[in-house]
Amino acid sequence: MSSDSHVACGQVEDNKVKVQNLQHVFNPRSVAVVGASAEPGKIGYQILNNIVQNGFKGKLYPINKKAREILGVPCFSSLLDVPGDIDFVVIAVPAPLVEGVLQECVKKNTKGTVIITSGFSEIGKTKEEQALKDIADKNNIALLGPNTFGFVYTPAHLNASFGPQNLAAGKIAFVSQSGALAISLMGWTMMEKIGLAAVVSLGNKADIGEKELIEYFNDDPNTSVILIYMEGIKDGRKFMTTQVKKPVVVLKSGSSSRGAQAAASHTGSLAGSDTIYTAAFNQLGMMRARNFTQAFCACSVLCMPMPKGNDAVIITNGGGIGVSATDECEHSGIKLLEDPVWLEEKFRCTMPEFGSTKNPIDVTGGGGCKSYREAVKIALNEARIHAVIVLYCETAVTDPVEVAKAIVEEYNTVKRNKPIVVTMVGGERSRTAIQILNENQIPAMTEVREAVSGLKTLYHWQEISSRPKEKAAVVLPPAQALELIERVRKEGRTYLLEHESREVLEACGVPMPKWGMAVTAEDAVREAETKKMYPVAMKIASVDIIHKSDVGGVILNIKNADEMRAAFARMMENVAKNAPKAKIMGVNLCQMVDGIQCIVGMNKDPQFGPAVMFGMGGIFVEVLKDVTFRVVPFAEQDAVRMIGEIKARKLLDGYRGQGAHKESIVKTLMAVQRIAPYVKEVDINPLFTNKDGSFAADARILL
Ligand code: ACO
Repeated sequence: MSSDSHVACGQVEDNKVKVQNLQHVFNPRSVAVVGASAEPGKIGYQILNNIVQNGFKGKLYPINKKAREILGVPCFSSLLDVPGDIDFVVIAVPAPLVEGVLQECVKKNTKGTVIITSGFSEIGKTKEEQALKDIADKNNIALLGPNTFGFVYTPAHLNASFGPQNLAAGKIAFVSQSGALAISLMGWTMMEKIGLAAVVSLGNKADIGEKELIEYFNDDPNTSVILIYMEGIKDGRKFMTTQVKKPVVVLKSGSSSRGAQAAASHTGSLAGSDTIYTAAFNQLGMMRARNFTQAFCACSVLCMPMPKGNDAVIITNGGGIGVSATDECEHSGIKLLEDPVWLEEKFRCTMPEFGSTKNPIDVTGGGGCKSYREAVKIALNEARIHAVIVLYCETAVTDPVEVAKAIVEEYNTVKRNKPIVVTMVGGERSRTAIQILNENQIPAMTEVREAVSGLKTLYHWQEISSRPKEKAAVVLPPAQALELIERVRKEGRTYLLEHESREVLEACGVPMPKWGMAVTAEDAVREAETKKMYPVAMKIASVDIIHKSDVGGVILNIKNADEMRAAFARMMENVAKNAPKAKIMGVNLCQMVDGIQCIVGMNKDPQFGPAVMFGMGGIFVEVLKDVTFRVVPFAEQDAVRMIGEIKARKLLDGYRGQGAHKESIVKTLMAVQRIAPYVKEVDINPLFTNKDGSFAADARILL
């Protein structure tokens, strides 16, 4: 397929060089801090102090007009006085001075900057911010901010922020749109001993945004997982070009349905901006978390090795917590190893006589640290077991700290060979035990649900990362469809009539039942007979009538020529009475079809552009709102996944003889995205699907 047969969905800026230059931001040989101050209360002091205290090994140049040295580091009065090039510059001077400093960076061959300074687009000074972006673009400078608290990158011992001084080192890169949240979570992760490779505050995202950072961390050997906190995306189409090579967990706040209220069609009313964000994340293979504890748990588990199969075991000392973990596993689709004889043979030796070897392996409240160690050792060493969930309820006879240490030792002995997650419920001692586990990169938490959902995320990522490379490309619609749309536009209409919508969609590949148009009753009889259409639905065709049923303009189940003539006469009478001024073009005829009622639609999101919807149709649309979306362009495999995403998927798989014709649903979704860039909204509701195929029983296109 030649590239010109694809629909262009807008030009997207390619920031490849900037992504490469982020190397100079996170691993610079030399750093200058412009605005470094000797006054401890000032931001410029805090940043320099953080860099010094964290033990950055490269060259460090504080820039200050008056001071000769700050914190024992010799100062320069200007960037231009520093000998040689400077890889990376932190800018913390008042807003009016920032552009001048950036110009000096250009002279020093700087490849990366972070602009801490506030007072740009966030207060409406977009021109001033654009001027910074222009300089950065012209000189390939990777620019973070402005209006950011900076970043920390633990592998380089570089804390170029005015946030907390210390961070536990680890493999999670945390990118945050909110500076305040990032600062507070730095403290929280430190307390929980969750290790981070990086914390980056995005600020105003004048240049470097989520896409560039994800693509940088994709290739960073010190990062295993990327966590994004997001309030909104500046450019959805650019975001959709993000390459995802490592697990990305997204915590997105700010769901809004305001946009949805304004939309006219079913598709529009179901497409709140948050729904489209979910679609975009699914499409890119990113995983969404609902709150920050869930997000960090998922990230910690995603740093674990991949499971080599689906069989998990639960090791517990409490029956109740074991049952609750079993429930969570069932809800999450995590399979527990079922082989009572084998489990009895392997685990009986780990517990008192009254313990249970039926997965959950219950070493009982009397089972001490030794029981835990033995059971964990067996679970880690047996190849038939692919994932281990350890639960502990605090008792006076078993010290949780000892249990934690035993787990760490056994896990290190087997060289971290499979995923293990731990939940410890109890007081102070359990909290210490959790910290010991986290410190040793064994995900530990206080909630069963979080441990299991973390493991589920790991399985989810395994599925995402094993998907074959999928190419999303949209083929141009045929000329006849575009000509028809153009003709309607020229007439000054904002919508296509039913037969016009059918013609456009059919030309793009949407499967239709037999259909036709008729001006007289005899035309209608001829049309139905030649196309072998009976039983038939008849609908009035008029530019002046939108709600056809309200004026008696819909008659269903017409079975033969006599009924057709009678129906035609009755419809004309109804319309003459109820809409006397309407200009009638004739009637639409359509073969009656049945099956499961679905809906396929398309509307335009302000951030992401055209998005296609699939879900349960007919009367279920409003009641169940069981729909899913994809942003155009999407791959055929994505259309297949859409069918599997709705809640009523079991119905579509086949229930009591009814089932969906999935190939033709996929065909419909792929056909609708062809027309998406040229129209405003599409509604195919209902799309009937049965074992023979899918059929658009009604079709509507808005321009
Ligand atoms: N070259 C070298 N040094 C300079 C220059 C220059 N061109 N211009 C000024 N300086 C020095 C100043 O003399 C001063 O040093 P001193 O303390 O020795 O006198 C130092 O740089 C700082 O300049 P000040 O004018 O004192 O500016 P101040 O520190 O008050 O404010 C700042 C600068 C911090 C950048 C401020 O303008 C600002 O934007 N603050 C908000 C930052 C922020 O909140 N960012 C968002 C974070 S996200 C979050 O918080 C959640």
